[in-house]
Amino acid sequence: HRHLLGIEHLSQGDITTLLDLANTYAELNRQPDKHADALAGLTQINMFFENSTRTQASFEIAGKRLGADVMNMAMQASSIKKGETLIDTAMTLNAMHPDLLVVRHPQSGAVDLLAQKVNCAVLNAGDGRHEHPTQALLDGLTIRRAKGRLHRLSIAICGDIAHSRVARSNILLLGKMENRIRLIGPPTLMPAGVADFGVEVFDDMAEGLKDVDVVMMLRLQKERMDGGFIPSEREYYHRYGLDSEKLAHARPDAIVMHPGPMNRGVEIDGTLADDINRSVIQDQVEMGVAVRMAAMDLLARNLRQTPVRQVS
Ligand code: CP
Repeated sequence: HRHLLGIEHLSQGDITTLLDLANTYAELNRQPDKHADALAGLTQINMFFENSTRTQASFEIAGKRLGADVMNMAMQASSIKKGETLIDTAMTLNAMHPDLLVVRHPQSGAVDLLAQKVNCAVLNAGDGRHEHPTQALLDGLTIRRAKGRLHRLSIAICGDIAHSRVARSNILLLGKMENRIRLIGPPTLMPAGVADFGVEVFDDMAEGLKDVDVVMMLRLQKERMDGGFIPSEREYYHRYGLDSEKLAHARPDAIVMHPGPMNRGVEIDGTLADDINRSVIQDQVEMGVAVRMAAMDLLARNLRQTPVRQVS
């Protein structure tokens, strides 16, 4: 692959190859010397048009650990503020010969469009409601390490499915890896036609969580509910917030996940989120660095075999 734009473009084999490599980087990241040279001599530019803590920090750390020259574009201070378009901005940076462009954008499809215009490898760090492929890959690696496998598991994805690129990428990845997926949430936050993805849909947590191996909670994304129905946080927590009482319906060894940032007391009880016997939320963050190292390493191997095209 030339780019990493979405899980929809990856095969089961691609996912396994990437997670196997990420697993070796996860071990490296626990060593005192964390350096490798897979990206030595390459330039990585991170362009985040939307807020981020985990994704931006881990892409920066991943690039630096692999020896790339990493530049974070301060988009708030860029000429986007003077009316320059996304494509003109990308073409301007493209002329500086970056090798890897990491892009987060609030509009679905913006990263795919940009990838068609530049010569370098593009990694989607989240585009609107569309995809967040490295999040699904880090979730997959976290599950594989906690459960010893990433197939034939029963996995519940709970909450605001409709606005979630994390849910979309995870549904694609977990489906490709042959897991049983249950979506739980209020009908108002369930996208139309979701049953076509081969998932089971529930609006009751007790029913949906029954005997699952993995419980993946999602943030209530109020910023994406433009003009639509916004549930009251109290009511939402009562019906859909994960606490130990609702978790008791899952398997006794079920793990609890959340991509972050989380709203404690809205979609998840804070004490449960911090319970290291059940919650793997910090492992997800740790695996985020390893997965991004693996993704950029694999794309760089491709780049080195591909002759540089003339910039027109
Ligand atoms: N999970 C995730 O994408 O977090 P950030 O928005 O902080 O990057």
